[in-house]
Amino acid sequence: MRILIAVASRHGATLQIAERVAGVVRAAGHEVDLLDVTQGHHGPDAIDGYDAFLIGSAIYEGHWLRGARRFTLDHAIALQGAPVWLFSSGPLDDDDAHVGVETRRVDELVHAVDAIEHRLFSGRLDRTDLSRLERWIADVVRAHDGDFRDWDAIDAWADSVVAMLQRDPPG
Ligand SMILES: Cc1cc2nc3c(=O)[nH]c(=O)nc-3n(C[C@H](O)[C@H](O)[C@H](O)COP(=O)(O)O)c2cc1C
Repeated sequence: MRILIAVASRHGATLQIAERVAGVVRAAGHEVDLLDVTQGHHGPDAIDGYDAFLIGSAIYEGHWLRGARRFTLDHAIALQGAPVWLFSSGPLDDDDAHVGVETRRVDELVHAVDAIEHRLFSGRLDRTDLSRLERWIADVVRAHDGDFRDWDAIDAWADSVVAMLQRDPPG
């Protein structure tokens, strides 16, 4: 099968999650393309010829990045006919009440493309990478520096996507 992973990332953490998922899905014998949707506009051609889609975004101030939201909504009608999985990277540790994605906003996207699920992964924060404004926001919400990405959880999720595609092939 041909699978597209579209991803929006500001500082690379979510892009690396997408690359990891791509590796797992490729190892299962599928053809996978990775599309960076952080910037720019991606017309209907961008989704031509794919059997299934994974769309991911980093979370900033409770929201998906604009590029990932736009990609999802621009192609919503076409994506409704295919298996779609959504994923986010955000939370920086277990006990910080300020992080996460606004459920209502991500639910809108799940409904728009009739996604199978939305999966939230922990993210990575490195203050030395941030703009002054981002650093200020990170301080205000008391976000912790560190790489909290759980590669085992990411691999297991990618395996579950592969298993679902095998069990229930599109078309
Ligand atoms: C300014 C700022 C705001 C953030 N807001 C949120 C948030 O609302 N919810 C969340 O879960 N993570 C939040 N994060 C954490 C990032 O989403 C997380 O570190 C993510 O893995 C970064 O992905 P990227 O490197 O692909 O951009 C924020 C980080 C920064 C710097």
